[in-house]
Amino acid sequence: FSAVLTDNFSRRHNYLRISLTEKCNLRCQYCMPEEGIKLTPRGQLLSTSEIMTLARLFVQEGVNKIRLTGGEPLIRPDVLDIITDLRKLEGLKTIAVTTNGINLARLLPKLKDAGLDLINISLDSLVPAKFEFIVRRKGFHKVMEGIEKAIEMGYNPVKINCVVMRGLNEDELLNFVALTEKKPLEVRFIEYMPFDGNKWNFKKMVSYQEMLDHIKQQWPDLEKLQSGHTNTAKTFKVPGFQGQVGFITSMSDHFCGSCNRLRITADGSLKVCLFGNSEVSLRDVLRSGASDQELLQIIGAAVGRKKKQHAGMFNISQMKNRPMILIGSASQTS
Ligand code: GTP
Ligand code: 5AD
Ligand code: SF4
Repeated sequence: FSAVLTDNFSRRHNYLRISLTEKCNLRCQYCMPEEGIKLTPRGQLLSTSEIMTLARLFVQEGVNKIRLTGGEPLIRPDVLDIITDLRKLEGLKTIAVTTNGINLARLLPKLKDAGLDLINISLDSLVPAKFEFIVRRKGFHKVMEGIEKAIEMGYNPVKINCVVMRGLNEDELLNFVALTEKKPLEVRFIEYMPFDGNKWNFKKMVSYQEMLDHIKQQWPDLEKLQSGHTNTAKTFKVPGFQGQVGFITSMSDHFCGSCNRLRITADGSLKVCLFGNSEVSLRDVLRSGASDQELLQIIGAAVGRKKKQHAGMFNISQMKNRPMILIGSASQTS
């Protein structure tokens, strides 16, 4: 495996998350402030050919999975062309997307034709009015339609991301678990994480242990599954159910030690940790006419600065970072 993408703790970064846009058609409370965010001028965002140059380089160095994120990746007009081009990269096994699901049903046939392998969909409430309160927009039924259609088209598992917030949707856990009875879904409950402008506080966070205790009251024989080494989620199954349930415990039990992720923001910065504030602008390096060798050297140096683990929940909440919308839907700590 490439030395460039191996850090000082022997972690091999074979999973790249690329944010395709800072824009979104929703306004999720945990992701961005109500007034929205100041968008980067268009000329400072990565062009499609710059995205492809970077993707090619990372794949050449050993990346075998790319996840497209945002903002909302499916609102980028050329998202299908990007997937089609990525599909041609030899060595890239998996192309995934994390979407809010609003445009999914409409685009699915074309996404599948272009070569999309995996889909994660955000869904924080099963009650339409509550969904709309959390995302500050309409669209519940469109998301549900997207989920159904993804299943129909054979995506398996379709992962559902549910950020759990006290006083908002913590009362819906059992209903989300019930969704996994007859559908090949992996519902993942995510601990609420602090980012700039998202008004996080400790009291609003519902911990993994608390969620698990609650679910086990109803399903005492909830069975722990073996999750992959680099999986962000701890996974479980109610015996007999088709789907499974996961917990993403970035706050109460971080998984930095097995982190295999790097991310590129829509404005072309390499972020080696979701919660880190040291970034390097690959866009600027690319635009200075640097050679592949020079780019790789800069990427390697950034990976070499990656910390062993994130700074801890309370430090993170005080730290200057970016709002989630400008990071590209979260990534693995360290
Ligand atoms: P898979 O490829 O299916 O494992 O997806 P994923 O869980 O990595 O990505 P997704 O975009 O669906 O994100 C789900 C949740 O995981 C979000 O809340 C992310 O913030 C969180 N997440 C993703 N990557 C990382 C990461 O590198 N570190 C941490 N701490 N959280 C991450
Ligand atoms: N805490 C936890 N998860 C978050 N996401 C966005 N913001 C936060 C946050 N503050 C999740 C969304 C989306 C995924 C990419 O990141 O659920 O599905
Ligand atoms: Fe948009 Fe996703 Fe952020 Fe919600 S979490 S505002 S859907 S980018």
